[in-house]
Amino acid sequence: MATNGKPVKGFGLKHSATGTTIFTVMSALATQHNAINLSQGFPDFHIDERLSQLLGDAARLGHNQYAPMPGMPALRQAIAVNFKQRYGVNIDPDSEITVTPGATYAIYTAFTALLQPGDEVIVLEPAYDSYIPNIEMNGGIVVPVALPAPDFNVDWNKVKEAITPRTRSIIINTPHNPTGAIWDKNDWDTLAEIVRDTDIVILSDEVYEQLVFDGQKHYSVLEHPELRQRSFALYSFGKVFNNTGWKIGYCIAPPEYTLAFRRIHQFVAFTVNTPAQYALAHILGNNTAIPVNQLMQAKRDLFLELIKQTPFTVFTPTKGSYFQVVGYERINDMGDMEFAEWLTKEYGVATIPVSAFYKNKKDDKLIRFCFAKKEETLRDAIARLSALAAR
Ligand SMILES: Cc1ncc(COP(=O)(O)O)c(C=O)c1O
Repeated sequence: MATNGKPVKGFGLKHSATGTTIFTVMSALATQHNAINLSQGFPDFHIDERLSQLLGDAARLGHNQYAPMPGMPALRQAIAVNFKQRYGVNIDPDSEITVTPGATYAIYTAFTALLQPGDEVIVLEPAYDSYIPNIEMNGGIVVPVALPAPDFNVDWNKVKEAITPRTRSIIINTPHNPTGAIWDKNDWDTLAEIVRDTDIVILSDEVYEQLVFDGQKHYSVLEHPELRQRSFALYSFGKVFNNTGWKIGYCIAPPEYTLAFRRIHQFVAFTVNTPAQYALAHILGNNTAIPVNQLMQAKRDLFLELIKQTPFTVFTPTKGSYFQVVGYERINDMGDMEFAEWLTKEYGVATIPVSAFYKNKKDDKLIRFCFAKKEETLRDAIARLSALAAR
């Protein structure tokens, strides 16, 4: 059921976003109009067969009861080894890693642990649409800072200007949803300089860390010794193993932060699906997963090639994530929400209007495509879109 725009009588609304999340809206519209769904960020292909097998094995072998509150030790150990291999960082699985029911939950929980009413949080916009409600539900005040189009790199002067004595946190997302921009080492160094003499805590949403293209490197906040001491880093297995519906993620943070995080987690979710943790621990521990960035880069490349058959404009090819933002200025002048609805109804392809990623619904007439789809899905979608005429 949609949650529509109005508060429910007798229930207090703790955030300003009264509508239904755009992902629900566009996916429902896609179903209603039998459209190809390139809106929500999820793969439409099968997961690695070994992972399905391991999930079944876990249930058959009897791993069906509550796992320990911070997550199964074997999974936390496998995460620590994996980060040592990929980033060269030492992480203590007992005091620094907590397994969560998805990254969104981890973001919410970190804010719950951190924020007092009236604390300000800087959000770089466009931003994943759960950040703002998550901050406001925890009594925080959102301070938006725009990332300038079309490359969406951070304007550091604007970030500096936004900091006040009440700034408690900044939430970072690299690789970035929806724009596919990625941070380089200079970005992290500049952030470190800006927050050095403050109490600001960083939330670093790195769910697309393994989806970086063209041989570029993802810089994790965990590689920055100074920032790491003041950061919650958030991850999602869904984006690594193409199983977003498993909804399993994790939070890596210094011991004191982890303690505060677990104080909330123990009374909200307490723990996470045991058979799925078992399966993930095995596949991660045996280091046998197929590299997801090669798979996704091939999809990005195919999408960029195919979209040339349409009048959409690719201003900046995406550097990471599942997404490509495009302009439609050669097609018509509609607002982006109206355009996305029209495209779904008239051309049978669902996308996300980028204005949904702004608190004030700033409309730069851009839409976001998700290319984490089967080749035939992408080809079918482009076949439909190539009927669009440039004006
Ligand atoms: C930037 C960003 N963070 C977090 C998430 C959610 O991750 P999870 O499904 O593990 O909650 C998404 C999902 O689309 C995302 O795009």
